[in-house]
Amino acid sequence: MASKDNHIPLFLIFSFLSLLQINSSMAQNVKGGYWFLGSGITASNINSTLFTHLFCAFADLDASTNEVVISSANAQSFAAFTGDVQQTNPSVKTLLSIGGGSSNANAFAAMASQSSSRQTFINSSIALARSNGFYGLDLDWEYPDTDEKMTNLGLLLEEWRTAVAAEAASSGKAALLLSAAVYYSPHYWSPADYPVAAMAASLDWINAMAYDFFGNWSSTTGPLAALYDPGNGISGDIGVRAWIQAGMPAGQIVLGFPFYGRAFTLANANNHGYFAPFTGTALSSDGAIVYNQITSYISQNSATTVYNSTVVSAYCYSGTTWISYDDTQTISTKVVYAKGKGLKGYFAWHVAGDDNWVLSQTASSSW
Ligand SMILES: *[C@@H]1O[C@H](CO)[C@@H](O)[C@H](O)[C@H]1NC(C)=O
Ligand SMILES: *[C@@H]1O[C@H](CO)[C@@H](O)[C@H](O)[C@H]1NC(C)=O
Ligand SMILES: *[C@@H]1O[C@H](CO)[C@@H](O)[C@H](O)[C@H]1NC(C)=O
Ligand SMILES: *[C@@H]1O[C@H](CO)[C@@H](O)[C@H](O)[C@H]1NC(C)=O
Repeated sequence: MASKDNHIPLFLIFSFLSLLQINSSMAQNVKGGYWFLGSGITASNINSTLFTHLFCAFADLDASTNEVVISSANAQSFAAFTGDVQQTNPSVKTLLSIGGGSSNANAFAAMASQSSSRQTFINSSIALARSNGFYGLDLDWEYPDTDEKMTNLGLLLEEWRTAVAAEAASSGKAALLLSAAVYYSPHYWSPADYPVAAMAASLDWINAMAYDFFGNWSSTTGPLAALYDPGNGISGDIGVRAWIQAGMPAGQIVLGFPFYGRAFTLANANNHGYFAPFTGTALSSDGAIVYNQITSYISQNSATTVYNSTVVSAYCYSGTTWISYDDTQTISTKVVYAKGKGLKGYFAWHVAGDDNWVLSQTASSSW
């Protein structure tokens, strides 16, 4: 009897181990990146060893049926995405991202406003994720801009979580991950506040888009993705602190940064700091230019580069062309910040913008 009692039954050890496994997967940090077809590289060319999670962008909301669909142009590469990126990193997790910056925000608002259309959206999203081999779903509704839409977003997320848990229980598979790409702050400018309690209870994490603080809609140049306030009250740190203040646990916040910059034409070549007047965008129609094109631009034009450590942002200029962007210094500082704040991780939009993986490598090794 006594000697038997000294042995812990095997089944207990196994249940303990599987509990540990669940805990460690729940606590897994996010080194994330978005990819889309036509971005410049194929999914199999992503150096997935540098990531824990890769987001495949974008599935669409069909406004007439309220179902989530993958366009025929994307169908083949999305179905192959998980297998492709797992070739070099079998443990990388993939999420199917729905919506995006150029999707129809009114369609999301209409879908979220009725219980029956929310159910259709939710059911179709789960079926689509499973049939295409994804580990999770990411909602990128840009943006719910009234309090009513925010309330409906909360209902959608709560029902989504319930459905994902029920599907996992009935299929015996691990529950799909649920994330959402959101404004950098819980206070959307329209103004409307995100339903933080429902988000914290329903989502594995949020991807806070802490970039696009300046662009062709602005009245002056300024840092695209400052970590600290350049003087206009907008920064990644302000957003992160506001999310935490509003009740989002730090451990569910993933900080986003850009693998692209925005280029402007200065009104005066000699006035090339922040808050300088510009006459229009440069180098592309909306001024967006990916990091590897920026590094080429700098070397081809011997552009002057400036790292502003106060706000944590980089810019370069040559003549009247001025570009704000993130480089290895800003990204390592942001990743160290994210880790120090106890955030869940970081993500980049978008992986094809990288230059021989230097930004992704810097981010990964800085965590
Ligand atoms: C991918 O990243 C790893 C880790 O930094 C590096 O060793 C490897 O050379 C990279 N592969 C490619 C193809 O760049
Ligand atoms: C969604 O799936 C659930 C569970 O399978 C089912 O009960 C419900 O009728 C479905 N709803 C719609 C709108 O398809
Ligand atoms: C960095 O930006 C801040 C905010 O605009 C500004 O006050 C400061 O002078 C800048 N520092 C440098 C070294 O340019
Ligand atoms: C900014 O760029 C976009 C994309 O090219 C364009 O549709 C929009 O009209 C531009 N806005 C301004 C204010 O120039």
